[in-house]
Amino acid sequence: MKKILSFSILISLFIITACTEKSQPELTEQMKDGLRKDAKEFMESLKDILVKEIQTNGITAAVNVCSDTAQILTNDYGLRKGIYIKRVSFKHRNQNNIPDKYESKALQYFNELKSSGNLNEDSEFAEIEEINGIKKIRYLKPIVIQALCLNCHGSSENISTDVKNILNTKYPDDRAVGYQKDDLRGAVSIIKTL
Ligand code: HEC
Repeated sequence: MKKILSFSILISLFIITACTEKSQPELTEQMKDGLRKDAKEFMESLKDILVKEIQTNGITAAVNVCSDTAQILTNDYGLRKGIYIKRVSFKHRNQNNIPDKYESKALQYFNELKSSGNLNEDSEFAEIEEINGIKKIRYLKPIVIQALCLNCHGSSENISTDVKNILNTKYPDDRAVGYQKDDLRGAVSIIKTL
């Protein structure tokens, strides 16, 4: 009897383990690598447009380009790649970029890395989320402030009056100022359905 009992416990344990493993598919390096490339390419394409516009037409014109095209470019990129992609920040400029619960968790993790001096080029957040039986990869990569960004995200003395006026008009609830070089600005967030 004792033997049968321990045998059934063993079987149950086996089934439980097998089931838990099934709902937690493994996130392979290959999956992550694809998303790493997407995040990098997306950020580089936004920066290219920004830098070109600043060089050709100046910083004031660039604010308009950023505000008129950032959302369109973001949506287009996602559609082309078959992913959901956006930029998120705790201190948003555009309300569309407010993080959801998952994104907040990742931003919090990046903040902790930053405070302990461990945020670096390889930092990332990747997990599988399952909602109503649908599995999705949630991938986030930190966005860090560079000198160029201070023209529109820095402290009051970094931002020209013209730029301030445009920002005040377009984003009355702007929270994305007061940053310094190397500060954590936010993250690129990608969702890919498996
Ligand atoms: C010419 C002004 C300008 C410069 C320079 C600039 N930004 Fe922005 N940034 C904006 C505007 C305008 C928005 C809002 C875009 C929108 O409406 O989606 C924005 C939005 C963002 C967002 C989305 C989150 C949010 O707050 O809504 C991130 C992240 C961001 N910028 C990071 C950067 C980084 C990093 C740099 C430097 C590489 C940079 N920006 C340089 C004007 C600028």
